[in-house]
Amino acid sequence: MEYLDITLRAAKIAGEIHKKYFRGDFKPRTKSASFDLLTCADIEAEEAVVSFIRKHFPRHNFLAEENKYPTTDSEYTWVIDPLDGTNNFACGLPIFCSSVALVHKDRVLSGAVYDVTRKELFYAQKDKGAFLNGKPIRVNTASKLRQSMLITGFYYSRGREVDETLKAVKSFLFKHILGIRRLGAAALDLCYVASGRAAGYWEFELSPWDFAAGKLIVEEAGGRVSGRLGESMPLDQRHFIVASNGRIHKDMLKVINSNRTK
Ligand code: IPD
Ligand code: CA
Ligand code: CA
Repeated sequence: MEYLDITLRAAKIAGEIHKKYFRGDFKPRTKSASFDLLTCADIEAEEAVVSFIRKHFPRHNFLAEENKYPTTDSEYTWVIDPLDGTNNFACGLPIFCSSVALVHKDRVLSGAVYDVTRKELFYAQKDKGAFLNGKPIRVNTASKLRQSMLITGFYYSRGREVDETLKAVKSFLFKHILGIRRLGAAALDLCYVASGRAAGYWEFELSPWDFAAGKLIVEEAGGRVSGRLGESMPLDQRHFIVASNGRIHKDMLKVINSNRTK
């Protein structure tokens, strides 16, 4: 089976597990902090996705949120967030997804983000465009902040990141943007930029499994993804992220950096 098919099927396998547990009778645990939750759906979805991919590509590597996997000599790595938006999921809020990407060296070849609640499958293949349920998607045409709906996120940290994010929120609002949303699932936030529902998104720090698939989907939809200085983002570490339709990218960076505290 071709790698794009595997990417899509893997994302959907996770989605079916989300559906099985959503609003069910489970008790979330906490991870590093009391506000960073973990559910049986995160664990089961990751196990199911990894074992499905392994059947097809037994030598490939895995970088996934909930477990560590032995390294192989393969140049291919599957980057997986089995459930993005866990805190939403655990509270019964229907904004969450799975995210699966295949990376060769430092290039993302394919990425899929699946929102089982809305049955929306976003995906892209390098140099072949981005799609939502089989139909091509493009970023929107907003060229001014005034015409822009923005999305942000709050990283699991309660330090200066919160302060800077809130300062940027205030500055954007004073630029008379259409609005700012905090949806709670980074991979979906990126897909909403890719499909033109929002003009831009930024967040202080994301992990590779949060952004690997979504970044490719935004870029293949004609948008831009960078770090806070406009630099390209490495795929193997946590990173500040700014994603946009391209047209408002510089203006977003300006506002974000004017609120930098160090
Ligand atoms: C989180 C969500 C959230 C973002 C956090 C992520 P998780 O992922 O994407 O929107 O603000 O930074 O860690 O923990 O639900 O997979
Ligand atoms: Ca995540
Ligand atoms: Ca997750």
